[in-house]
Amino acid sequence: MIAELETIDRDTAVRAIAAMEAELFGRGAWSERMVREELDAPARTYVVDIEPDAPTGSPSAIRGYAGFWYDGEDAELMTIGVGKAHQRKGIAAALLRRLLDEASRQGARRMLLEVRVDNEPALALYHRFGFERMGLRKRYYQPEGIDAYTMSVELAPRMVGFAREEHRNEGAAQ
Ligand SMILES: CC(C)(COP(=O)(O)OP(=O)(O)OC[C@H]1O[C@@H](n2cnc3c(N)ncnc32)[C@H](O)[C@@H]1OP(=O)(O)O)[C@@H](O)C(=O)NCCC(=O)NCCS
Repeated sequence: MIAELETIDRDTAVRAIAAMEAELFGRGAWSERMVREELDAPARTYVVDIEPDAPTGSPSAIRGYAGFWYDGEDAELMTIGVGKAHQRKGIAAALLRRLLDEASRQGARRMLLEVRVDNEPALALYHRFGFERMGLRKRYYQPEGIDAYTMSVELAPRMVGFAREEHRNEGAAQ
């Protein structure tokens, strides 16, 4: 079940996300302090996946997390992760779908991201959602010195204004 970060107790969310960061990213993981700073930073939108039957307030109820930064130009996917015990169940797809919808609703025209060139699961996920490779950042991930692809996807225009605009243009041409 996807939920907005604001509906979750902040300390519980910080503990749960930092624990998944350590499990998923090893030496590159964000600490609890870094997670809290990121969640509190301006213009962020974060969502989590919560196990529906888990007791409220339990950090283990949070199975996945993802967020973007949108400052008025493009939306930048900051991170996405799903606890190892819960992977391959469609959770990342649900998180990313929600973020793409939300970025589009906020007015972003593209979503951008960086991904390790050797991260096959993430690359497959992003391709499935239409992200295309833009460029390469050499030795982007430290301390390992692994390269990153930069990727982007165009977001659907906000439907209301766009549909009306299209209609007017069609009418004018006739
Ligand atoms: C990448 C990650 C978020 C995917 O999470 P997930 O919940 O297991 O993914 P989903 O079950 O929603 O899968 C969605 C799609 O992603 C791709 N995918 C996910 N895991 C994959 C794997 N191990 N191998 C190949 N493709 C994979 C597939 O295209 C999949 O669609 P499909 O199931 O129809 O084949 C997860 O593996 C993870 O947390 N990895 C560590 C953190 C990370 O690398 N984050 C990205 C940083 S850029």
